[in-house]
Amino acid sequence: TIRHFLNLSDAGGDGVAAMLADAVDRKAARAGWPKGRADADRPLDGHVLAMIFEKNSTRTRVSFDMAVRQLGGTSIVMDAGSMQLGRGETVADTARVLGRYADAIMIRTDDHAKVEEMAAHAGVPVINGLTDLSHPCQIVADLLTVVERGVQLPGSKWAWLGDGNNVLNSIVEAAGLFGFSVAIGCPEGYDPDDRFVAAARARLAGTGATVVVERDPLRAAAAADIVVTDTWVSMGQAHAAEKLAAMAPYQVNAGLMAAAKGNATFLHCLPAHRDEEVASDVIDGPRSAVWDEAENRLHAQKSVLLWCLGRL
Ligand code: CP
Ligand code: NVA
Repeated sequence: TIRHFLNLSDAGGDGVAAMLADAVDRKAARAGWPKGRADADRPLDGHVLAMIFEKNSTRTRVSFDMAVRQLGGTSIVMDAGSMQLGRGETVADTARVLGRYADAIMIRTDDHAKVEEMAAHAGVPVINGLTDLSHPCQIVADLLTVVERGVQLPGSKWAWLGDGNNVLNSIVEAAGLFGFSVAIGCPEGYDPDDRFVAAARARLAGTGATVVVERDPLRAAAAADIVVTDTWVSMGQAHAAEKLAAMAPYQVNAGLMAAAKGNATFLHCLPAHRDEEVASDVIDGPRSAVWDEAENRLHAQKSVLLWCLGRL
């Protein structure tokens, strides 16, 4: 069977745990010579990753490209607007053709149904590089960032503040797979996807870990090990004044961080909007792990690729 990675559940808890172990090892193996050479084993020698972007990207684009190169392979990066896809060729036909050339396909798009359609027709592994629904690759990097700070995932407490978006849906999914709690501080009307919440709650039954929505931001942050937020306006969404006003009380600032544990770690997938969803003194402060988190996209993408290609 072909190993697609459209959501974390495609790999399951064991698969994602294997990715994290591989990412820890590969990151450690590069310490001291982080640039200027491939990973010694070059496990994807001769392989090609095709990447399609229907939305902007800095980290996902560069970290996947660097990852496949350091694994000994190469990549082809395409903006949808310059492909026939951008003038009406179907996703299914694009998948059928790219699958004849490339060893794996990564796609960033809007409608999650498009990545599912790509996977149904590609004949090679398809990786979700972000959809309106979820962002699983980001969360592999986030889990790596948390683990390398010595936090045990099972039983840990995460607080999400702000918009109930694609990144949150994948965090909620991870909570179910790894047995941690997520307290979601978000205004009414901006909750995460019900299906992700229901699936996580079903997996967490009896573990003591919970996924709860709190309208009070300080209650959401209470005793958190991890505090995480993201933009209030995701790609493809309007800058609605009404939404920004609803989000304002959920800004991650010093007062909010004071409600979390004293050694809480702050995460943000980036790009950030300083003094909107996060105060400058938090993202630029001592509890912030955002640059390690961004670096970890590189190490995490390698493990995603290796899992998809049956090497993990
Ligand atoms: N965090 C993230 O996915 O960043 P990019 O949009 O720059 O890829
Ligand atoms: N929620 C954001 C994440 C960007 C990496 C978006 O979808 O735009």
